[in-house]
Amino acid sequence: MIPMTLSQVADVTGGILHPPEAASVIVDADVVTDSRQARPGSLYIARVGESRDGHDFLAAARDGGAVAALTTRLAPEVPGLPVIVVDDVQAGFAALARAVVDARPDLLVVGITGSSGKTSTKDLLGIVLGHAGPTIAPEGSFNSEVGVPLTVCRVRPDTRFLIVEMGARGIGHVRYLAQMAPPRIGVVLNVGSAHVGEFGSRAAIATAKAELIEALPQDGVAVLNADDPAVRAMAQHTRARVVLVGEAPDAVVRAEDVRVDSGGRPRFTLHTPAGSVPVTLALVGRHHVGNALAVVAVALEAGLALPEIVAALADAGPVSRWRMEVTERVDGVTVVNDAYNANPESMRAALTALADLGAGTADRPPRHTWAVLGTMLELGADADAEHAGVGAAAVAAGIDELVVVGETAAGIAQGASAPGANGIRVHLVGDPQAAAELLEQHLRPGDVVLFKSSRDAGLRWLGELVAAPEGEH
Ligand SMILES: Nc1ncnc2c1ncn2[C@@H]1O[C@H](COP(=O)(O)OP(=O)(O)OP(=O)(O)O)[C@@H](O)[C@H]1O
Ligand SMILES: [Mg+2]
Repeated sequence: MIPMTLSQVADVTGGILHPPEAASVIVDADVVTDSRQARPGSLYIARVGESRDGHDFLAAARDGGAVAALTTRLAPEVPGLPVIVVDDVQAGFAALARAVVDARPDLLVVGITGSSGKTSTKDLLGIVLGHAGPTIAPEGSFNSEVGVPLTVCRVRPDTRFLIVEMGARGIGHVRYLAQMAPPRIGVVLNVGSAHVGEFGSRAAIATAKAELIEALPQDGVAVLNADDPAVRAMAQHTRARVVLVGEAPDAVVRAEDVRVDSGGRPRFTLHTPAGSVPVTLALVGRHHVGNALAVVAVALEAGLALPEIVAALADAGPVSRWRMEVTERVDGVTVVNDAYNANPESMRAALTALADLGAGTADRPPRHTWAVLGTMLELGADADAEHAGVGAAAVAAGIDELVVVGETAAGIAQGASAPGANGIRVHLVGDPQAAAELLEQHLRPGDVVLFKSSRDAGLRWLGELVAAPEGEH
């Protein structure tokens, strides 16, 4: 964090410092919510979670080196740890994050939201902006009311760029995050059906994502996906300048002639106001084209030169795990582990990538493709139809073998078994273990196998097992 005295922290959080003599003690290391991550100079935030009360770990935070804690009560049982007592720890934490941003008027804050691809895009943007100056991007998928202030509080005196992933499970969530870390550039990637069960409708999801660009200032920039009608329509909700990105003819940052190489990596011609250049991505899957266009638009706004941006993109491989993570086995089987999470759009994107990897080329025959798919959570009333739709998409993509894992995903198998669905073999298995056995028996050298499901279905583990069977570690 930027160095702050405890008296300043008390000021900005509206808290009361105990003991007052600790006023000049300085917080200069990261702010943490996990006492095990406390280091000398840290501030520990004692959150009260669903199952645990952070106040139970004050001593551990002190022992790790924390110089103070943000709490809702005094802690006489933990001598030697000053506390800043507030009424509401979350509100205090949010206010602290906001104070950090306000203390750095030169910092360029970029907010990213959308139903799919936020983490992939922030990873890519983090690498690209990192070429121009010190950049803070969230760890993993830190995009909530806790992950965002944790990220913001990592800003240091020399940080130039702050990238904030903004997730939403309801109306008002993005607005809240944007108040905490007011962005000058806002990116909306897409409006899909992730968490539609909680939102109620896709229209509500669009409203929630639009809160990001409603929060932009007049001299800000809204980077909007021109190929998603619900995102394009957000142009009217912002005072900021709009930069459309996509394949649509009127996109200002535009991809043309998109194709993939034999490794599933996209190539395209990039057109921008700064010129046109060929681009190759180091990531697998056409869906990264839209993510990359958003990154280009932000990087140009941030003042980077086009050749620098394109060179950085060509080098930027996967950062966060289980997103199109590709492993080549020694026997020539290609394993794609995309089991970080799943919604209907990212399922379709992954199936397209699988089909691309399996497609024949001038010097290679087509490869046998396996889609090992599990359930998609949080789809509410649409769940059955959406699962069936994914099965139909597997058929349409020309996948050879569909392995559906678990009863809750059975709708995918049904969708792939509709009359006229020729060519695909459908296997319905009870659990990941059964899928492992099936694959062990039937995978042949040269096959390509994709694993994808919502996070708790055990497919990440299965993907790792199949990627590195015994003896190949
Ligand atoms: N533009 C895109 N369209 C569809 N799918 C995408 C896109 N970008 C990434 N994906 C896929 O969506 C899944 C989630 O990607 P990622 O983690 O980047 O999204 P996210 O928006 O951060 O998700 P979360 O809401 O869980 O934080 C991955 O399987 C990824 O391959
Ligand atoms: Mg994410």
